[in-house]
Amino acid sequence: MTNIAVLVSGGGTNLQAIIDRIADGSLRACRVRVVISSKPRAYALERAKNAGIPGICVERRRYSSIDDYDAALLSVLKNYEIDLVITAGFLTIFGKSVVDEYPDRIINIHPALIPSFCGKGFYGLTPHVRALEYGVKVSGATTHFVSLEADAGPIIMQKAVEVEEGDTPESLQRRIMTQAEWVILPETIRLFAEGRLRVDGRIVTVLPPPADD
Ligand code: GRF
Repeated sequence: MTNIAVLVSGGGTNLQAIIDRIADGSLRACRVRVVISSKPRAYALERAKNAGIPGICVERRRYSSIDDYDAALLSVLKNYEIDLVITAGFLTIFGKSVVDEYPDRIINIHPALIPSFCGKGFYGLTPHVRALEYGVKVSGATTHFVSLEADAGPIIMQKAVEVEEGDTPESLQRRIMTQAEWVILPETIRLFAEGRLRVDGRIVTVLPPPADD
């Protein structure tokens, strides 16, 4: 069983996608043990409650240093015996002690094709605003392991989504969510839970399923 913590700050549609895939049996041997929000009023906490999952708010402003904040996060993660941490729209930065404690076991979802439209400040609608300004014809989503630099860790999965004529940042965001994010995040978790992700430096290889699968 893979014990998952999902870290959120907002609506939690990616959290919902994980909950739904576990419920419909397509994501097996996984459970979301805890949802950690950086914001007390995040709708993701409602989703956790509706699914019977403990929701805990750990707000950065309550801690005077990043070390204290990391210690608070780590204590929740340890308490729930977490194997895999998912950051899905988690807007607070944690530090080295969290990253070091979970090597290749923290995965982020980003709403663009990294290395485009990513890094510091690229959250919310910004990746989509900038993608449309640039005139790209495809954008998409990326799952990647988390390193200390924002959106820079080894890429696990990517899915491209076409930009359509007349797209607004909102319509592009929605299409990327439905067609890419909610698909590749559960799929990435499945591969992780099956022990099929091998990381070698920057390169992630997906190992074949066991022969009798
Ligand atoms: C998603 O677009 C995700 O890729 C990004 O933040 C957004 C979170 O949305 N990192 P939600 O809270 O999962 O609905």
